[in-house]
Amino acid sequence: MHRTASLLLCLYLGCLACEGANPCCSQPCQNRGVCTELGTDAYECDCTRTGYYGQNCTTPELLTWIKVSLKPLPNTVHYILTHFKGLWNIINNISFMRDAIMRYVLTSRSHLIDSPPTFNSDYGYKSWEAYSNLSYFTRTLPPVPQDCPTPMGVAGKKELPDVKIVAEKLLLRRKFIPDPQRTSLMFAFFAQHFSHQFFKTDMKKGPAFTRAKGHGVDLSHIYGEELERQHKLRLFKDGKLKFQILDGEVYPPTVSDVQVDMHYPPHVPESHRFAVGHEAFGLVPGLMMYATIWLREHNRVCDILKQEHPDWDDERLFQTSRLILIGETIKIVIEDYVQHLSGYHFKLKFDPELLFKERFQYQNRISSEFNTLYHWHPLMPDDFHIQDEVFSFKQFIFNTSILTNYGVNNLVESFTKQIAGRVAGGRNVAPAVLMVAMKSIENSRQMRYQSLNAYRKRFNLKPYVSFEDMTGEKEMAAELEELYGDVDAVELYTGLLVEKPRQNAIFGETMVEMGAPYSLKGLMGNPICSPEYWKPSTFGGKVGFDIINTASLQKLVCNNVKGPCPIASFYVPNVKDSVPTTINASTAHSSQKEVNPTVILKERTSEL
Ligand code: HEM
Ligand SMILES: *[C@@H]1O[C@H](CO)[C@@H](O)[C@H](O)[C@H]1NC(C)=O
Ligand SMILES: *[C@@H]1O[C@H](CO)[C@@H](O)[C@H](O)[C@H]1NC(C)=O
Ligand SMILES: *[C@@H]1O[C@H](CO)[C@@H](O)[C@H](O)[C@H]1NC(C)=O
Ligand SMILES: *[C@@H]1O[C@H](CO)[C@@H](O)[C@H](O)[C@H]1NC(C)=O
Ligand SMILES: *[C@@H]1O[C@H](CO)[C@@H](O)[C@H](O)[C@H]1NC(C)=O
Repeated sequence: MHRTASLLLCLYLGCLACEGANPCCSQPCQNRGVCTELGTDAYECDCTRTGYYGQNCTTPELLTWIKVSLKPLPNTVHYILTHFKGLWNIINNISFMRDAIMRYVLTSRSHLIDSPPTFNSDYGYKSWEAYSNLSYFTRTLPPVPQDCPTPMGVAGKKELPDVKIVAEKLLLRRKFIPDPQRTSLMFAFFAQHFSHQFFKTDMKKGPAFTRAKGHGVDLSHIYGEELERQHKLRLFKDGKLKFQILDGEVYPPTVSDVQVDMHYPPHVPESHRFAVGHEAFGLVPGLMMYATIWLREHNRVCDILKQEHPDWDDERLFQTSRLILIGETIKIVIEDYVQHLSGYHFKLKFDPELLFKERFQYQNRISSEFNTLYHWHPLMPDDFHIQDEVFSFKQFIFNTSILTNYGVNNLVESFTKQIAGRVAGGRNVAPAVLMVAMKSIENSRQMRYQSLNAYRKRFNLKPYVSFEDMTGEKEMAAELEELYGDVDAVELYTGLLVEKPRQNAIFGETMVEMGAPYSLKGLMGNPICSPEYWKPSTFGGKVGFDIINTASLQKLVCNNVKGPCPIASFYVPNVKDSVPTTINASTAHSSQKEVNPTVILKERTSEL
């Protein structure tokens, strides 16, 4: 509407007046200063508390100048953290140093996220509506104003390039590029499973909206978003979730058993329509495998709690188990998942107490940009190797029989052995999911995202000065130039996927420096990490608290499979170790006091 009006005005006044329509289009305010347009030819930058002053918030205050001069570049910090292994081995062992560094990692990252949240895709200025309406994803940068000369503000062409052409020239896989960090499919499916609890775009309302009102790690993908769904999934006995037994093993119940909505195509037989918290988890066996593991874990924790508290009713056992599983999830995500992704030799630590004396808000709002950057579809290989079989994408998708035919054991083993694709560096999206990448770009346009370079500035990174600076090579740089015209007009998602990866790494600089703040803020902003919650009694006493504080991916698997448990790892262990691929299950079960399975795994693969 607004657009049509300005277009009419434009025709009426002649286009001269229009070019200067909104002076904020050129993003004149630097260093996170806020731009307000004053009519059509003036603007004001609000530099309050940015540490800078002047018309465009470009002049640093003395203290800012000192801080900025002393601050090492993100790439330098990354280099230090991913090299000097011997030094880190020592630092990791000195607890006050490890704590201090971890505290710094958490605070420096999460301070980049506005909390309370500010904008959304319909409000580029602060408003109560944007703050309070949880149906929206929030926005880290406001949308580009409607009345700007180009979709990216003032840079680039009047129209963005055809999405299909962008995808085919820059994103589509030519030949599978394995991730040099040796990320496994076990990681890829964990990423998809874990992130879909808070990335649930409300397709009916549009890309700006979410169906996940918890805005964080609430385990709605296990328990359901709504209370009604949760109740249908619960057994109402001993706190447990409903399940079925096939070949002597526990699996989720079927849709016909519990009557919850799940998305399955018609060809999937009734008997294979498993029902879990998230409607879409029938999509791939990797998702249903994790859903099965977590269901077993929930019921296992219920058993333990009931032993401790024989007098507790179903409700209390259920609720307390849920809190414990939230804790386990955060522990595993920080110490196994983020640890792997980071490539750091520094040993990350999940310890909420590190933040108790810091200025930190225990709240979180999922932003659209976080969702966009998490579209790690290049992780997906061309086909899936399970035991001695090879499944094409087509055979794999919605094939829940794979889970029951092979069992959790075999799937974990196979997914741990198969390497995932590299995410940055361009041209590594499998044809089967190219549409998803295209959709992601289309949605970003609909939500009027600012450019990759605008986001780089927002996260304290230097904007790329040329296309070659962005890709680190010439061929894709030339394609980009032809498509976008100006490096300041390259879109966020395209940029993230074509960006030059860091040396031997899965991601480029922007993905990490932007993704890590959202991620850590979301994990540590969880209520269970706040001082009143983070104590044994919240989790049913020492037993529950210990489950959280000793959780790992390997233990999660070992505690929930029958028989010998396979190695479970977010990276593919080196093949030159000719150690058998299963580890002693009795060892893994006997928890803390005996050998820790993760230690065995780390030792075996320590040369990595
Ligand atoms: C077998 C592999 C996969 C298939 C077939 C698949 C397919 C899809 C589809 C169809 C969508 C919805 C796209 C849209 O209409 O906007 C989607 C969304 C998404 N996918 Fe995947 N995907 C796969 C693997 C992954 C993996 C490994 C990740 C890793 C993180 C991932 C992350 C996401 C995210 C974050 C979204 C947005 C979710 C939302 O906002 O609702 N996907 N995917
Ligand atoms: C502020 O930015 C505008 C537009 O980019 C520029 O014309 C102006 O010279 C800048 N002002 C100062 C003081 O740098
Ligand atoms: C760390 O310290 C423990 C004992 O505190 C010791 O057993 C271990 O060898 C040390 N590791 C390294 C790498 O220094
Ligand atoms: C949030 O905003 C959307 C779009 O304006 C609206 O449809 C919805 O009703 C709002 N939700 C609440 C709870 O106000
Ligand atoms: C599904 O997986 C089974 C193995 O569990 C396989 O035999 C079957 O061909 C697959 N289905 C499709 C439609 O590819
Ligand atoms: C597994 O561990 C148990 C107890 O430590 C031991 O008796 C058994 O021999 C081990 N099995 C294998 C295959 O190493």
